[in-house]
Order: sequence, then structure tokens, then C-alpha cells
Amino acid sequence: MHSVLDPAFRRDLGDGLVLRWSTADDIERIATLHSLVHRDAADAPPNEEYIRQIRRMMSDDFPLMGPRDFGVVEDTSKAGNPIIATTAVWRHTWAYEGIPFRVGRPEMVATDPAYRNRGLIRALFELFHARSEARGDLVQAITGISYFYRQFGYEYALELDDRRMMPIALIPEGRGALTLREATVDDIPLLEELYRRRQASGILSELPTWAMWLYDIETWKRHPELRHFLACYMLVNAAGETVGALITDAYRRGKALYVWLLELIEGTNMQAILPSLLQALRAYGAGIEPALPDGEPFQEICFALGTTHPVFEFADITLRQPVEAPYAWYLRVKDLPGFLLHIAPALEQRLAASSLAGYSGDIKVNFYRGGLRMHLERGRLKVVEDWRKPVYGESEDASFPPLLFLQVLFGHRSVDFLRQVFPDVWASAEAAPLLRVLFPTRPSFMLCWN
Ligand SMILES: CC(C)(COP(=O)(O)OP(=O)(O)OC[C@H]1O[C@@H](n2cnc3c(N)ncnc32)[C@H](O)[C@@H]1OP(=O)(O)O)[C@@H](O)C(=O)NCCC(=O)NCCS
Repeated sequence: MHSVLDPAFRRDLGDGLVLRWSTADDIERIATLHSLVHRDAADAPPNEEYIRQIRRMMSDDFPLMGPRDFGVVEDTSKAGNPIIATTAVWRHTWAYEGIPFRVGRPEMVATDPAYRNRGLIRALFELFHARSEARGDLVQAITGISYFYRQFGYEYALELDDRRMMPIALIPEGRGALTLREATVDDIPLLEELYRRRQASGILSELPTWAMWLYDIETWKRHPELRHFLACYMLVNAAGETVGALITDAYRRGKALYVWLLELIEGTNMQAILPSLLQALRAYGAGIEPALPDGEPFQEICFALGTTHPVFEFADITLRQPVEAPYAWYLRVKDLPGFLLHIAPALEQRLAASSLAGYSGDIKVNFYRGGLRMHLERGRLKVVEDWRKPVYGESEDASFPPLLFLQVLFGHRSVDFLRQVFPDVWASAEAAPLLRVLFPTRPSFMLCWN
């Protein structure tokens, strides 16, 4: 019997279904599954974009995963052993107030419609979680469909997809002085610096590898037929100086051109360049191919830059209004005591900078189906351990329904806000100020890279 970490792992799920890790031999069968799942109608043609996506993710070039990083279920009872469910495993490194930790990210989750609601994704997630935890990932993160991933221990805990639309018809005609120059390898340090600056106000940030930047700038060109997701551009003023950078789509997704990152170097006036930036983006959007043929015509530029992006402070009213409330990343932390101890220096620093500096005492948090005890001594987090409220005696200092605490931990929502929404969130008069200090609310911005 192979361990789940072994590439040769196989688990019989009954009826000829086998759960295992992928190899390069599976590329076309995985591509076929996704090309059929991601369609608007059962008689629509296969989705070519998904075929390209699977081929490029499973090439050895892709920085976030390789050909062996899909969990798959194949049906050995059918001719050709079709692959009928998948979950890919991406690898990231994020940081909490600058303290790095590894993240496992499930992607490309799909089941053939004929095999749904039989627990195949549940089985794939058990496999993924086992591997991710064994690899030392302290957190798993997914940008997934509504509700579904709650069932696997995930909670919405990080802002995602704040979208502000600018119809191109509202952009004044003409071309300003700003131009977009395709980023080169030499621009990577500046891109990285600008991304870091964008993230500086948040609690969570990312430590992208060189290979991640290089992929969308250079590596993808080894197989241009497979295309790529993101296009990195430098903003150049009339004097030929680089004044900033942006990340947008390499191929247009539907009617909108998305802008995923927009940062200016210090001393550049965002308000002054915005009109000519919009004109440059309109020209770019009109010039690129849609990801899929027969898509809608180009109609709008969509800024997905996070709620705290400075451009919205002074932009036209059209851009100040989000299309709808932002969505959120789902995060999972299996070993909460382990994660809290990992980020203890950040928590201690917050405490030291607060009017509770030097705090000593216990804080017991009841998660109703379990809980947590944190013990602080003169401002140092000495113990974090699982705790369960006994029938008599010890009582809790705060309570949260299972998982909701993650919203507080990652600065997504405050205890006070959650208390307004959920009557079963509670903190004692002594614990509430401590929780506010240890876990301030501050939105973070994270690129999705797809
Ligand atoms: C979403 C999808 C992957 C689910 O696949 P599946 O194999 O049916 O999932 P599972 O059977 O493992 O589901 C686990 C549980 O969730 C339930 N479930 C299935 N689809 C669900 C949905 N869309 N929302 C909520 N629950 C769902 C199942 O009934 C099952 O419940 P149970 O464990 O209590 O019996 C599949 O519907 C799909 O491929 N959809 C299209 C592509 C897609 O949206 N992928 C997700 C991208 S983030």
C-alpha cells in the first residue's frame, strides 16, 4: 500500500473508479474533462481555452505546479479509462505581517456531470490536504465557487475580486502621452517591488518566486500556442521614463479587459495620468484576441485592484462604485495552534505597540466543537493549544462558530462586526480589547495569477 505522498498512490473508490496522482500521460484526458465541463450547454463545442490551460499547467514550465500535481479520479471500467474528476495542487509562499508560510492551493476542480454528488471531490480534497499538510503548508487557499468549499474546512477570509467597471464608451477619444511597454526580464525587480508596495498595507502578502514573474514575461513563449494568462506592462511617459507597471489579461475574457495590478513609482501623479492610462488600456484591449472565439465584443475595462487601491479615491464616479460587494478567498488552517505560534512574533509586536503592552493572562476561545487556549506572559505568546470547554468550571473568554475565527485571524472582519451578524460570536469585556489588538482588521490584496 503506497502512502498518499507517493506518486504511485492508488485508492480504489469502487465501481472501477481509482483515485491517484497524475502523470504527464494524463494531460490529454484531463484536458478533455475540463474542455467538456466548462461549457455553457451540453451540446456546446469543447472549451479550447481549458485545453490550452491544462496543457500549459502540466508542462514542466509552469511555476506553480507540474505534471504530477493533479489529483485525479479515473474510471477504469470505461474504454480509454477517462479521467472524470480532478483537483490540481498549486504551491505558493505567502507571509503574515512579513512572516513567510507555505500555501497549498487547489485549482481546476471539476467532475464530469455524470459522476457528480458521489463525493469524488471530497475524496480528492482528502488527498490534496494530506499532501499539502505533509509538505508543511500551514494554509490552504482557494478562489472557488460559492459555498462549496465550506464543506471541506474552508472559510471566506481574504478579500477577492473587487471589480470596478469603466465602459470604454465613456473614455474620451484620443491618445494621451502614456504608453504601455511589454515588461522584460529586467523589469522583474521593479514589478516585484511595486507588488510588494501594493501589499504593504495588508496583513497577508505574497513572496512570488522569480519563476512566477518570468513565466508570464518570457517562459510562456517556449510554447506560444498554449498562450498564457497575464500580461505585464510598464507604463512609460512622454519623456520615455518608466512611471509604473500594470498586469492585465493577455487574452480578453468576455466583454471586459481586466486590470489586476496597477502601481506607479513614487512621485508619479495617478490623477494626472489616469485619462491617458484609460486611453492606453482601451487601445490595448481593442488590440488583443479574446480568449475564446465568438465572445462578446470589447465593452469595458474592469479594475480588480482591491478595495483599498488609491486610484478609486479620486477617479470618476464610475470607477468609485464597485459592481457588487467583493468576493473572497477561502482559507483553511488545519493546525490553528501551529499557525498562531508561527506568527507569534507578529502578534507580540501588535501587543507591544498597544495600550495592552506587557499583557499576561489566558484567553480561551470556544469554537463550540473545540477551541483554543492562548497563554501570554508579559506580552509573549507562550502557549497556544487546543482547548475544549469542560462541562463545569473553566469558561471561555470568547466564542466563534467553527471556522469564523479565521475571518478575524486574517484581518478580514472584526470581532465586533461578526458579533453584529452572528449572535453566537461573543467576547468578554476583558477579551474583546485583547482580541482587537491581536487581530486588527485590515484588508489584504493578493494576486490570483490566473
Ligand atoms: C462543483 C463540482 C466540482 C462538485 O463535484 P462533485 O464531484 O459533485 O462533488 P462532491 O460529490 O465531492 O461534493 C461533496 C459534497 O458537496 C455536495 N455538492 C456537490 N456540488 C455542490 C455544489 N455546487 N454546491 C454545494 N454542494 C455541492 C455533494 O452533494 C456532496 O455532499 P455530501 O458529501 O453531503 O454528500 C462539480 O459540480 C463541477 O465540476 N462543477 C463545474 C465546475 C466547477 O464549478 N468547478 C469548481 C470551480 S471552483
